[in-house]
Amino acid sequence: MDNQSLTIIDNRTDKTYTLPITNGTIRAMDLRQIKTGAEDFGLMTYDPAFMNTASCQSAVTYLDGDRGILRYRGYPIEQLAENCTFLEVAYLLIHGELPTAAELDAWNEEVMRHVLVHENVKKFMDGFHHDAHPMGILMSTVAALSTFYPEAKHFKEPVSRRLQIVRLIGKMPTLASYAFRHRMGMPYVFPEPELGYTKNYMNMLWKRTEPHYAANPVIARALEVLFILHADHEQNCSTNTMRAVGSAMADPYATTAAAIAALSGPLHGGANEEVLRMLDEIGSVDHIPAFIAQVKEGKRKLMGFGHRVYKNYDPRARIIKRTADEVFQVTGRNPKLDIAVELEKIALNDEYFVKRKLYPNVDFYSGIIYQAMGFTPDHFTVLFGIPRTVGWLAQWQELLQDPDQKIARPRQIYIGADKRDFVPMEQRGAQLAHV
Ligand code: ACO
Repeated sequence: MDNQSLTIIDNRTDKTYTLPITNGTIRAMDLRQIKTGAEDFGLMTYDPAFMNTASCQSAVTYLDGDRGILRYRGYPIEQLAENCTFLEVAYLLIHGELPTAAELDAWNEEVMRHVLVHENVKKFMDGFHHDAHPMGILMSTVAALSTFYPEAKHFKEPVSRRLQIVRLIGKMPTLASYAFRHRMGMPYVFPEPELGYTKNYMNMLWKRTEPHYAANPVIARALEVLFILHADHEQNCSTNTMRAVGSAMADPYATTAAAIAALSGPLHGGANEEVLRMLDEIGSVDHIPAFIAQVKEGKRKLMGFGHRVYKNYDPRARIIKRTADEVFQVTGRNPKLDIAVELEKIALNDEYFVKRKLYPNVDFYSGIIYQAMGFTPDHFTVLFGIPRTVGWLAQWQELLQDPDQKIARPRQIYIGADKRDFVPMEQRGAQLAHV
């Protein structure tokens, strides 16, 4: 195919335009030249929810939703989940290449040097109500970090930028575990960097009175795999938020807090919590048909099903299902698995779901594993946020180095009132009732 261009005839003017096609894409700004006259602003595209708009060029994650493919920096997710530690994958996402043994040692050491938080962080954490949602606590404390590191605003400078990246990756499990302990009314556990990323996190979560908390290796590996699976997912809602807020040159803590806010929504990262609530509500396998009927009537959503991009099986869901089996050998089977498996079986054979290409996504089984591990549902999205911070930061770093990028600022199609004159208070009637 030699001719990589698109010819457009504007029937309003009979003019013809030829636009270059690069990477299967035309530049929206090339449409601006298509005008009906000098006063015309030029043609725009209307794409609410970015259904067909690429907002960036990225070399971080490749996703083919029709074929169920997910790769970080070219490496298939299945191979990374099988062979890597989470920090090894974090190195890959941030640096673009897998580390050598020496580079990985140095990286582990560098990240683990930043797991401590200022004592004052614990003080304002204490100010949260006893039943505050951990995502609210995480979001607020990450935002507050910007007040501890005011020099972070120099992030355009590479040394400063790297420092903020390792700080955030290092501190995330500490903040997450403190949010967990706060909810349980338990004292915060001082980090032990020598345990490594995941086992230190487990220690900070679950250590009680024992002198040395012994993390179960199967659970630790499962958590590591879950972290790998959640580390990045190209331009999803929270990553887009990270890029949008980052494009305003807000500091990385404020920017990450904004991404956490997006992740907390039930249509995004918050779905794993909703899946568990849904399974609780269904209660037993024989209630599934009635629940499915409600979904098909449009009264409910089958949480953990469907994805904007995957219209085939989500490859992460397949790995998670396998991980579940390993975890249940240690913890005992979570009875909710039976409901989930049956729900999946019925849904995958039902015309409603088949026609709409609705498959289990990453959240469908992850909550069942997290619950078996001892997490309460409100902590599930936090477990998503810890590893996704790496992806957000990799994407943020890419944004800052991309000469094509400017402050994110979409256009709109104005559909409001035309110009009209001010109405003094005494002359106003019921015309505001529509507001
Ligand atoms: N249950 C029932 N029906 C569904 C579901 C679902 N979970 N998801 C989509 N549909 C239906 C829609 O009602 C729509 O039907 P229609 O064509 O008759 O109107 C059709 O499938 C297409 O759905 P859209 O909403 O257009 O798909 P979209 O790409 O906008 O939404 C989303 C994707 C938000 C993930 C959606 O599938 C959903 O709400 N799923 C449940 C929440 C969830 O699991 N979110 C986690 C996503 S993964 C993640 O963020 C980590």
